[in-house]
Amino acid sequence: MPDIHFSPIDRLLLAADQVLRRLPGAPAAAAPQLADMPPEATELTAAERRQAAALMRVNHAGELAAQGLYLGQSLTARSPRMLDHLRTAGAEEAAHVAWCRQRLAALGGRASLLDPAWFAGSVAIGALAGLAGDAWSLGFITETERQVEAHLDDHLTRLPAGDRRSRAVIEQMRRDEVRHGEDARRAGGRELPAPLRGLMRLAAKLMTSTAERL
Ligand SMILES: [Fe+2]
Ligand SMILES: [Fe+2]
Repeated sequence: MPDIHFSPIDRLLLAADQVLRRLPGAPAAAAPQLADMPPEATELTAAERRQAAALMRVNHAGELAAQGLYLGQSLTARSPRMLDHLRTAGAEEAAHVAWCRQRLAALGGRASLLDPAWFAGSVAIGALAGLAGDAWSLGFITETERQVEAHLDDHLTRLPAGDRRSRAVIEQMRRDEVRHGEDARRAGGRELPAPLRGLMRLAAKLMTSTAERL
């Protein structure tokens, strides 16, 4: 079905707008706040703060990448329904980015120096996934979100127990990612071939292990 709502030029302008909003120095997007946010931890040691900040730096890079993927996919999506799907989930990824950024600031951490590279690379990969067609693109979302869920589970075991705010953020993001993956599967996402899933895991591992340090 042709996309009657957004011409290619519309999509490019929308994408440019999304990118400009995310450049360093741009005002932080207003993100819906988490309900029932626990109080800020005051008893964290310096080492615990560093550990929590390193994990939130990885999550910030990952959420930025997720946003880039959705944006890239929306550039090459075929149907208006698919575009709607991508924009709805993409808006939630934008909130995730904002929450991670807030946690990084509260913990005295900094974002990954390679964030622009993760974001740009993800836009390119997302656009490629979209070119394969909406069913594959939806399957790509399901697999990505499954991997993010596993990654967040790992972070929940590594996060200092006292940092209840970061925990609340990760738990909410986990719930959202499960829903994103499930929605994409129900919307007709195809199961990706195993070698591709393996390749995606490898790329994600490269990003997360680099962002933890850089
Ligand atoms: Fe997310
Ligand atoms: Fe997600």
